[in-house]
Amino acid sequence: MIIFDNVWFKYGDRDYVLKNINITIKEGEIVCILGDNGAGKTTLLKHINGLLKPSKGEVYVDKLNTKETSVSDLAKKVALVFQYPERMFFTESVWKEVEFALANFGFEEDIRVHRIRKVLNMFWLWEYRDRSPFTLSGGEQRRLAIAIALAWDPKYVVLDEPTAGQDGFQREILIDIIRNIVYREKTIILATHDIEFVFELPECRIIVLNKGEIIYDGSSVELFNNYPELLIEAGLEPPSLSKLIQTLRKEGKYVVFKNYDDAVDKIYNLIKGG
Ligand SMILES: Nc1ncnc2c1ncn2[C@@H]1O[C@H](COP(=O)(O)OP(=O)(O)OP(=O)(O)O)[C@@H](O)[C@H]1O
Ligand SMILES: [Mg+2]
Repeated sequence: MIIFDNVWFKYGDRDYVLKNINITIKEGEIVCILGDNGAGKTTLLKHINGLLKPSKGEVYVDKLNTKETSVSDLAKKVALVFQYPERMFFTESVWKEVEFALANFGFEEDIRVHRIRKVLNMFWLWEYRDRSPFTLSGGEQRRLAIAIALAWDPKYVVLDEPTAGQDGFQREILIDIIRNIVYREKTIILATHDIEFVFELPECRIIVLNKGEIIYDGSSVELFNNYPELLIEAGLEPPSLSKLIQTLRKEGKYVVFKNYDDAVDKIYNLIKGG
């Protein structure tokens, strides 16, 4: 369990960029942190692996207070994939990049080989295994960073802007992978302003940050069905299907959807029915 208990944070003498954050994340949840540029998403994520410590309040990861726990101890539980993961690569091949992380966590060679094969295949990176990570495209580099984070099977997977630089096909891979991770009962916390991506994920918990404050914490279905104006307030565009459904409601066609596929079906049926 991850707990943010009345957390406030400021960089140096500036204004607070996180204000009164209270969140409890249970094992197996998918939590999407949504917010505009500068809303405080990355700052919040960095509190989970102890890179930043609250100015006021406490953060606990499985009862460990991050103020009293080293970043390397927290790293055994929390894998954080940064917004610009390419900056962290340093070996000469994709294979070695994954292997280094596993060796670092003390895995034996046969387990390392097995895990490297598994994650490189899972992330469609197998054919690049002998290439330098620096020669990969931005989207491939991001997938490699997530693959590395998952290779050692951390309890909490924290992803900062996972879809940045991903085209349609790569986004589909990512959505598939996230569904898979969830299926394996991992906890995922991701920050993004890619609403369309979140809309396509399985039902999840959404936290909307607006200038460092939480203005919504609840289910994605509830948010996209009933509170699109909260997204606008936070400087975000609601998903296009959600907007279309709001327009239909104004026309007297009251559509409620359970998820992305359901929304597509209902709109299709309306069009078909004239
Ligand atoms: N190292 C830093 N020193 C001072 N201010 C910072 C630092 N890092 C971030 N900030 C400020 O804190 C606020 C929140 O930044 P943060 O990076 O957490 O936002 P974000 O929601 O992740 O934005 P983005 O969508 O652009 O990634 C911003 O106003 C930013 O300018
Ligand atoms: Mg950020």
